[in-house]
Amino acid sequence: MSTVINRAEAVRPPQVITVNSVSKRFTVRKDTSLKERMVTLGRAGRQHRQDFWALNDVSFDIRAGTTIGLIGHNGSGKSTLLKVLGGIVQPTSGTVEQRGRIAALLELGAGFHPDLSGRENVFLNGSVLGLSHDEIAAQFDAIQEFAGIGDFIDTQVKFYSSGMYVRLAFAIAVHTDPDILLVDEVLAVGDEQFQQKCLDRIKEFQSEGRTIIIVSHALDQIASLCDRVVVMNHGSMVYDGLPATAIERFRELLVENGVGQAHTEESSRGVAIESVDVHDASGVPVSEIEAGTEIRLRIRVCAVRPLEKWALGFSIDTAGGQMAVASNTDLLAVELPELVDEQTVDVVVSTDAFSPGEYVVNANVAGLSDSTSHSLTGAASFTIAGAAPTVGPVAADIRIA
Ligand SMILES: Nc1ncnc2c1ncn2[C@@H]1O[C@H](COP(=O)(O)OP(=O)(O)OP(=O)(O)O)[C@@H](O)[C@H]1O
Ligand SMILES: [Mg+2]
Repeated sequence: MSTVINRAEAVRPPQVITVNSVSKRFTVRKDTSLKERMVTLGRAGRQHRQDFWALNDVSFDIRAGTTIGLIGHNGSGKSTLLKVLGGIVQPTSGTVEQRGRIAALLELGAGFHPDLSGRENVFLNGSVLGLSHDEIAAQFDAIQEFAGIGDFIDTQVKFYSSGMYVRLAFAIAVHTDPDILLVDEVLAVGDEQFQQKCLDRIKEFQSEGRTIIIVSHALDQIASLCDRVVVMNHGSMVYDGLPATAIERFRELLVENGVGQAHTEESSRGVAIESVDVHDASGVPVSEIEAGTEIRLRIRVCAVRPLEKWALGFSIDTAGGQMAVASNTDLLAVELPELVDEQTVDVVVSTDAFSPGEYVVNANVAGLSDSTSHSLTGAASFTIAGAAPTVGPVAADIRIA
């Protein structure tokens, strides 16, 4: 009897990642508001320090050749877990063992140096992933072709749109021959054609027996790509198993936790999204809107010092976390006037192709000549009433009012 079990064990692929009771603590400051924090910059007097557990006793194993999805609400610890797996963040307690070369596609911009050109970042990034200069040089043309960003390859990456960032980052990661590929959210960015190219490459990786770990809010993508899905909730793993069951569990949790919980992320405190309010076409604040009418997202931003060149971005996600529309003033070729103190920008979006249901608005702001930025996830929410449902990402008319 025991021989049979041993033989079954022998044909199972080896474990490439083992996570043992991993916990991660961050120390966070508690202030009354982001603005206050910006104003009191440097004066530590009114801050309260508080420990915060982003990961709480997480354990699991990953066998070679598996594609695992990580899902969970904003702030549930997905990105932190991915960074711990990639060795970019050290756990406070517990251990992670991994075997093989890891390529990590982390949150937008992570891993790129903003002041260097795309070309320079290819070499920098490649060497971080353990490739020699010659090995990267040999792959350079393939990387450039896959990214398809043309002459932007010689532009400083701080001028890239989020789509360009992702194109280049993805191109580098898949050309470094990784055994394990970590992907955080990036599949939702970029145009449909590029997304398809990424998905094709991921499927190729799967057929080659590489291990892939994907964080995504696009649940349909998770369902179709993954063999196994882990659900995170407030830093704890609450489910590990079949994709369909995991997605069901996640949907239940979204309802329990409530959508529209604001979650902020900032790389610098020079600039901030203060608030986002949803108005109807005539400028009246609303929480529900008829499909087919326009909504006006009133985004209020503030800056500590005047910002001459800056850009504003936003996205609208379904309650299930799938991106419906997204754009930014860079893509829309809108030049914003110098940001002094505080400013309100209205973004008008047609809801013609939105299905009925609940939506969440996210916004971000970035200085273009320095690296200040701030993003606010779950800044507002609204409901689309009535009309027949449509599927997939929508092509909405967007303009800055
Ligand atoms: N360096 C840090 N310092 C302090 N807190 C942090 C740090 N990094 C992450 N956190 C906090 O840890 C929690 C988990 O963050 P994490 O980015 O892992 O969540 P997530 O599940 O990836 O969320 P999202 O869906 O918004 O990307 C959040 O509350 C976040 O604010
Ligand atoms: Mg994340």
